[in-house]
Amino acid sequence: MIRHIVVLDAKRGIAKNGKYEWTPAADKRYFNQQTLSHGGVVLMGRKTFFEDVRRPLPGRENFVLSHQDLAIPGVTVIHDLQAFLASKTDVWIIGGAELFAETLPLADELYVTELEGDFDCDQFYPSYKDAYRLVSKSESRIEKGVRYSFCLYKSR
Ligand SMILES: NC(=O)c1ccc[n+]([C@@H]2O[C@H](COP(=O)([O-])OP(=O)(O)OC[C@H]3O[C@@H](n4cnc5c(N)ncnc54)[C@H](OP(=O)(O)O)[C@@H]3O)[C@@H](O)[C@H]2O)c1
Repeated sequence: MIRHIVVLDAKRGIAKNGKYEWTPAADKRYFNQQTLSHGGVVLMGRKTFFEDVRRPLPGRENFVLSHQDLAIPGVTVIHDLQAFLASKTDVWIIGGAELFAETLPLADELYVTELEGDFDCDQFYPSYKDAYRLVSKSESRIEKGVRYSFCLYKSR
């Protein structure tokens, strides 16, 4: 199964100037808990790895997608997205914008942390509510003035 896990603001924004520091700390725990499950295979784009994640995520099998020949300790760099996805039973796709857009049509489940408010982002997640149905939503929570909920969508 292909799963996306992402934090979105009210305009589907995922980052501003390469960062999304408004994300609640509770989301980090949620992200770790989820991505350690279902086999713990995480796939990310090259930019997300170098600009955001920076180190292999512990306890998970880390894959980075790039056209370049890169050697990153603790990470397997892959070049062929389709062949990779076909070779895995379960994959967590953790970003960024380019990789989310490329794989949204293939994703079975979306773990979306939906934030209220507009954080003036310059990178966005594609529109998903027509092709996915909401199957669960946590109660609304608030942290440092940011209201959010954890949502799970499944492909229609
Ligand atoms: N809000 C969130 O939940 C969240 C989560 C993750 C990331 N982010 C944000 O997302 C941003 C990064 O997104 P991004 O769109 O700029 O970059 P990205 O999707 O992380 O990485 C793009 C790179 O991935 C490689 N790539 C993509 N498709 C490929 C393919 N089919 N074959 C081979 N390589 C491929 C290319 O690397 P090469 O150029 O090396 O070929 C491409 O430049 C950051 O600002 C980060 O903070 C937000």
